[in-house]
Amino acid sequence: MRFLTAGESHGPGLVALIDGVPAGLAIAPADIDIDLRRRQLGYGRGGRQKIERDAARITSGIRHGRTTGAPIALWIDNRDAVNWERVMSVVPVAEPPDAVTRLRPGHADLAAALKYDLEDVRDVIERASARETAARVAAGAVAKVLLRAIGAEVFSETEAIGDVASVPTFDRERVEASEVRCSDTAAAARMVAAITAAREAGDTLGGIVAVRAGGIPAGLGSHTQWDRKIDGRIAQALMSIQAAKGVMFADAFDAAHERGSRVHDPIAVKDTRFVRSRNRAGGLEGGVTNGEDVVVRVAFKPISTLMDPLPSADLKTGAPAPAHVERSDVCVIPAAGVVAEAMLALVLADALCEKFGGDVAADLVAAVERYRTRLHPIDQRPGK
Ligand SMILES: Cc1cc2nc3c(=O)[nH]c(=O)nc-3n(C[C@H](O)[C@H](O)[C@H](O)COP(=O)(O)O)c2cc1C
Repeated sequence: MRFLTAGESHGPGLVALIDGVPAGLAIAPADIDIDLRRRQLGYGRGGRQKIERDAARITSGIRHGRTTGAPIALWIDNRDAVNWERVMSVVPVAEPPDAVTRLRPGHADLAAALKYDLEDVRDVIERASARETAARVAAGAVAKVLLRAIGAEVFSETEAIGDVASVPTFDRERVEASEVRCSDTAAAARMVAAITAAREAGDTLGGIVAVRAGGIPAGLGSHTQWDRKIDGRIAQALMSIQAAKGVMFADAFDAAHERGSRVHDPIAVKDTRFVRSRNRAGGLEGGVTNGEDVVVRVAFKPISTLMDPLPSADLKTGAPAPAHVERSDVCVIPAAGVVAEAMLALVLADALCEKFGGDVAADLVAAVERYRTRLHPIDQRPGK
């Protein structure tokens, strides 16, 4: 399974194209729209979320509620596009809009304008914008349906916003009830207060998101080749999210300061199953899932666009100028969690198809069931 996206932030819409989804998988538009809605919620978002009401139009790959094995194409309207028709016109217009030339630190503006020889930073802004994550979330929702078919779930929780931290419990009800997606209500209130204070100061906040995948069978990925190691694939996918600046499995940056005897997860056998007394490996050893929950944490930098802009320069003249300011979020950590779920689900679904066969959903589910009986119970494994 692989996917690509297309679309600009203020163009007519976004496209997600997902190839290699097994045939016969039951998918309803609501499966996708639920996650699109979840991505739009959260304290700290800007005015854009009041304009958009994201929903995916499925234009290919699903008939009468089931995947056909053909590529799945999803279209998400940008409602805001009506306000940007002249700026985003595909054909030249009589009165071209003013070019954006004041570079924004923390954005792709300077690096991409130099790389592509662009004179209007608008050409960078539109595609670098995290509006694109709506297409990722739509694609990820399809991956989640496949994971659910084998009893696997991906879910995230906010672990930190600015300097307010909490310990994720992944309690779905409490997380979804929280406007910052944090199950600890006292910490959540402090997070909201921190966002309000940052907004009042014309400033922004980042944070940490924890993502957990449960019900993932041991054996996804491989220890045999660098590009097949699933930890590397997960890290790449999560790092590609806008503003993501660090990925760690479980508590890797703490574990780096400890002795091995405290860090590695002892192996035991209970009720004919291999079990671990802890999961500090985050469900991965040697680039292979080990049957424990996959637990990853992603650090996001504070949002780059500041209402009180940083000193910068003009792309055309090189003259000093404050950074361009555009409507923007103050903190996106609650939304970033939903995006991280999507990216983790897409990597795991891809690895699942790779191991168990990706043509027919029922065959894949049956193969996983057979495989699970090969693994358990350990004293009845054939030939053992
Ligand atoms: C869900 C989400 C929403 C975002 N919204 C904004 C925003 O409103 N304003 C902004 O300056 N950056 C926003 N960002 C981050 C930028 O898109 C990102 O920092 C920028 O494209 C530069 O890429 P980099 O930070 O990955 O290097 C958002 C990121 C995510 C994940």
